[in-house]
Amino acid sequence: MLFLVKSKRGVVGVSRALIIGCGGVAQVAIHKCCQNSSVFTDICIASRTKAKCDKVAEELRSKTATNISTAHLDANNEAEVVALIKSFKPEIVMHLGMPYHNLVIMEACVKCKVHYLDTAAYEPENTDDPQWREVYEKRCHDKGFVAYFDYAAQWGYQEKFAQAGVTALLGCGFDPGITQAYVAYAKKHELDTIEYLDILDCNGGDHGYPFATNFNPEINLREVSAPGSYWENGTFHTIPPLSVHKKYNFDGVGEKDMYMLHHEEVESIVKYVPELKRVRFFMTFGQSYITHMNCLKDVGLLSTTPIDYEGHKIVPIQFLKALLPDPASLGARTKGKTNIGCIFRGTKDGKPKNYYIYNVCDHEESFKEVGSQAISYTTGVPAMCGAMMLLQGTWQKPGAYTLEEFDPDPFLAAVSEFGLPYKTTTKPVLVD
Ligand SMILES: NC(=O)c1ccc[n+]([C@@H]2O[C@H](COP(=O)([O-])OP(=O)(O)OC[C@H]3O[C@@H](n4cnc5c(N)ncnc54)[C@H](OP(=O)(O)O)[C@@H]3O)[C@@H](O)[C@H]2O)c1
Repeated sequence: MLFLVKSKRGVVGVSRALIIGCGGVAQVAIHKCCQNSSVFTDICIASRTKAKCDKVAEELRSKTATNISTAHLDANNEAEVVALIKSFKPEIVMHLGMPYHNLVIMEACVKCKVHYLDTAAYEPENTDDPQWREVYEKRCHDKGFVAYFDYAAQWGYQEKFAQAGVTALLGCGFDPGITQAYVAYAKKHELDTIEYLDILDCNGGDHGYPFATNFNPEINLREVSAPGSYWENGTFHTIPPLSVHKKYNFDGVGEKDMYMLHHEEVESIVKYVPELKRVRFFMTFGQSYITHMNCLKDVGLLSTTPIDYEGHKIVPIQFLKALLPDPASLGARTKGKTNIGCIFRGTKDGKPKNYYIYNVCDHEESFKEVGSQAISYTTGVPAMCGAMMLLQGTWQKPGAYTLEEFDPDPFLAAVSEFGLPYKTTTKPVLVD
């Protein structure tokens, strides 16, 4: 039964969200759902380690009107996901765990006719598996890049979600996520054509450890150590890992070294903005991070292939993750700011126009508010806001879509309200 309640956003339905995962990103999204109880009346936090879900629920129960329950879940087991959806009866599943499980959870959402949201494109747990590699290498090779992740598998669910009458919102973090809403916003309000786009992701934070990753180490290290790519003149071009390096002076952070990476949103942006001549994605890293990562790669610790160790199967990168600091624990020690945004070069009313839209987020402020560092914060806030767009019917489009496909205005208003306001300039310093 659907009850209607009044909130400052008007009349909204009583809605239930199942949140899968309870790591750095999920914990921020959970806090944000609990700050928005008139929309998220009931949430269930379900993850592999239920004790983490119970701890977060316990911390929040006295501070929110949202009803919080918890459950143990193996997200890799479709029958378990379906059973939990049937017993909790959510309107949306917010998948904030590992991208290995995207397809299993999407399948369960189609079966149960509920909305789906995630923050990273599907990639398989073992990228070295020969069976998978053959299919993938052909698909990506045909598109011109050699990374481990793309949208093809999830776009394959377009028809199934459309027929079920529900939406899969793919990649609703900051990048992917808000960066695509920035593209839709620039196209709607600022530029008639977009010819060049540089997406810049800067983390100016310092956690004080010799080496740690600010989101899940497996996904972070796989992404950064993979061959990079950029889009130019109608196709992707692959480059060796971290082989293109630039410096950029970021508002709120200062000058940083940044490196060109392959990133999933480039694939969807070029579909949405066909006139684009070039799209590049850059992320900042210090020399110490790169030296550590290369060393770990050289000794085989970034491998996803299981090995036998004294009679046990061990996946080297998963063993490494167990040794590294948990990203969800970095908040108390991280100082500094992030700056993530898009620099556009295009035209307006027949004249050349440049436009830069970005957000600056402070690690210590994020920690004060929700107990997390800014990388988790900048991902968890859009995840909650994207879910709100679907729950309130602001975005109504059955099928499987990335964020460029929706009206950016209500979403960017929501992420601004919930902690990630944007700044703009028409006189940005361009990346050479
Ligand atoms: N779009 C963006 O801007 C952006 C930015 C950062 C991160 N991300 C993405 O956000 C996601 C979460 O990152 P994070 O930093 O929060 O990672 P994390 O801290 O490692 O959290 C992952 C969570 O998934 C749970 N999990 C793992 N395997 C599971 C299984 N089989 N069944 C159920 N739960 C399982 C983990 O449980 P345990 O507690 O038992 O380990 C943990 O709670 C990743 O996909 C990452 O790529 C996106």
